[in-house]
Amino acid sequence: LFLPDLRPTWDLEYDTAVVIDVLRATTTIVTALANGALEVVPVASLEEAMEFGKRGYLVCGERGGLKPPEFDLGNSPLDYTRDRVEGRKICITTSNGTKAILCALNFSKRVFLGSFLNLSTLAERLKNVEKIIIICAGNEKTVSFEDCLLAGAIVSKLVGADVSSNGPNESGKFFLSDSAMIVKYLWESVRFPNFHGVHAKKLRELGFSEDVEFAKSVDLYSVVPEFDGNKIVPTNR
Ligand code: MLT
Repeated sequence: LFLPDLRPTWDLEYDTAVVIDVLRATTTIVTALANGALEVVPVASLEEAMEFGKRGYLVCGERGGLKPPEFDLGNSPLDYTRDRVEGRKICITTSNGTKAILCALNFSKRVFLGSFLNLSTLAERLKNVEKIIIICAGNEKTVSFEDCLLAGAIVSKLVGADVSSNGPNESGKFFLSDSAMIVKYLWESVRFPNFHGVHAKKLRELGFSEDVEFAKSVDLYSVVPEFDGNKIVPTNR
């Protein structure tokens, strides 16, 4: 299946971008901040991450789903316990998620991070934002079922049930792109985090079934992470 329109309208400047990598980068970062990490710095390469390690940061992330041997933590959200991360600064590099975070400020004024863990607080924070783009990190340059489910859950929470055409609703309050409508109807046909995509399968095969289950924990936390171009910290506005 090739869906050529599942791309953003690059020439628009958005007010807020929401970056999603349900399995597992944004789930992991939300968990780290909820458990008291001071900040999370996303970087592109293992080498950059190791440089941050010299400055006292916990060096974290994955390649091929696995922790590089020289890193402190991998990309399992369950590893980011309070006793490990509270009061610590973290540097993280992952295969897809951190790349999506790093490019998001190119076309949006603000960048938030989303996961099922912070779904309701995130949606509440987005309620009065005019132009929103949801960026799904995907999996190795392909669409990710789990990211689409969450994107749909966010759209559904924002616009409710009264969308039946591609255009503003009766009150003229919102306009959905076709891709936003697709994920909304996807979510509304499932209505719970039902993870059966390629990446979920791969993670289970690698022994990370518990991470996949944990990533389904709707509204476990109320933290909304924001990336300012250098670091990710919780935001209250
Ligand atoms: C990524 O950024 O590609 C993912 O978070 C990979 C993973 O599941 O560790």
